[in-house]
Amino acid sequence: MEDGQGPGLRLELGQGLGLKPPFGSYQNEIYLNGLRGVLPPYPMTFAELEERARAALPASVWSYVAGGAGDERTQRANVTAFERWGLVPRMFVGAAERDLSVDLLGLRLPSPVFMAPVGVIGLCAQDGHGDLATARAAASTGVPMIASTLAVDQLEEVAAEFGETPGFFQLYTPTNRDLAASLVHRAEQAGFRGIVVTLDTWLTGWRPRDLATANFPQLRGLCLANYTSDPVFRALLKSPPEEDPQAAVLLWSQLFGNPLTWDDLPWLRSLTDLPLIVKGICHPEDARRARDGGVDAIYCSNHGGRQANGGLPAPPPLPAVAEAADGLPVLFDSGIRSGADIIKALALGATAVGIGRPYAYGLTLGGTAGIIHVLRSLLAEADLIMAVDGYPTLGDLTAGSLREVG
Ligand SMILES: Cc1cc2nc3c(=O)[nH]c(=O)nc-3n(C[C@H](O)[C@H](O)[C@H](O)COP(=O)(O)O)c2cc1C
Repeated sequence: MEDGQGPGLRLELGQGLGLKPPFGSYQNEIYLNGLRGVLPPYPMTFAELEERARAALPASVWSYVAGGAGDERTQRANVTAFERWGLVPRMFVGAAERDLSVDLLGLRLPSPVFMAPVGVIGLCAQDGHGDLATARAAASTGVPMIASTLAVDQLEEVAAEFGETPGFFQLYTPTNRDLAASLVHRAEQAGFRGIVVTLDTWLTGWRPRDLATANFPQLRGLCLANYTSDPVFRALLKSPPEEDPQAAVLLWSQLFGNPLTWDDLPWLRSLTDLPLIVKGICHPEDARRARDGGVDAIYCSNHGGRQANGGLPAPPPLPAVAEAADGLPVLFDSGIRSGADIIKALALGATAVGIGRPYAYGLTLGGTAGIIHVLRSLLAEADLIMAVDGYPTLGDLTAGSLREVG
């Protein structure tokens, strides 16, 4: 070797290496690169990631992404709620190998992590195509992306970037049922492996940061590609959206939000044979009812505190929701900022854990490579905690592995 280092040391951080166990080996790469004076190009803590993303994003996009509902108490509480529990270290376990792979809806995933739907992810990228960059990060890492209805690039183009990694489509159910069906059928055709119906966002919560700048991206015609490319949507317009974008925005605003009730669940279920996942479930009774209504997975989330302030943080209800799901997979997000949070969410009953804002910030700083860095860092920390604390498999992480602290 010219520089006296093995080939492993030549790896460029976050350059589409893929994610292979042991995930903790990311730290070896970083330390070894340090021997030749190469430091990680992206932040190693969430605080620095957030700060650098704030500096790099236009103010309006930053306030939309970082902000939440009301005084953002619930948003902050999602994060701090995880401090309530600690994982109990177990010794003489010899957890030299850890298995973080998971079965989810008939899919074998390398890790129990996915990228939550983020509606303006397109705008978080320096080139304005964050949906595609995120899909490429999914392809490189095997970490699935849930693609939002609200996208800069249309769902077919996003799905084309997934490679071997399965992807999911998140539906904001429009009031027009034909449009809803069209979006779902396009997602099926494009190869998505499940439909995530978000229940908590048929209107926008009270968001002072965005209100202060009167900024709502979709009303400015942004992130509407899935609508403007849709044949049902287009047929409802007098002129094509390319000729009269204002009319398209107006129509979008009239169709966007459907305040679904339980009576709508049979119709939603009938739309697709793909796995149906309902997002926003925080009450065990809702989980039970959704299960009885034929959904395939429950997604426990409070939308990262963006929708209703003053509500419960998302982690505390997770155990009861998971119990009520009664064997159905439970996806979870809201407040995940570290590998330790991932571990705790899994121990609280999640089958798979969603990353939200952190990957958006990684995207801002480094495009696809920035997202890969964020995902690798989160998974490395989770893996190393399992190693140090003696939990070799996800099955070992149970509510009994956690203790309340303070
Ligand atoms: C900027 C932004 C846009 C979002 N857009 C969507 C969306 O289009 N659909 C959806 O179901 N959830 C959306 N969410 C919610 C995320 O899926 C997830 O629930 C949330 O980010 C989790 O909170 P955390 O990022 O604080 O961990 C969005 C979140 C953010 C931050």
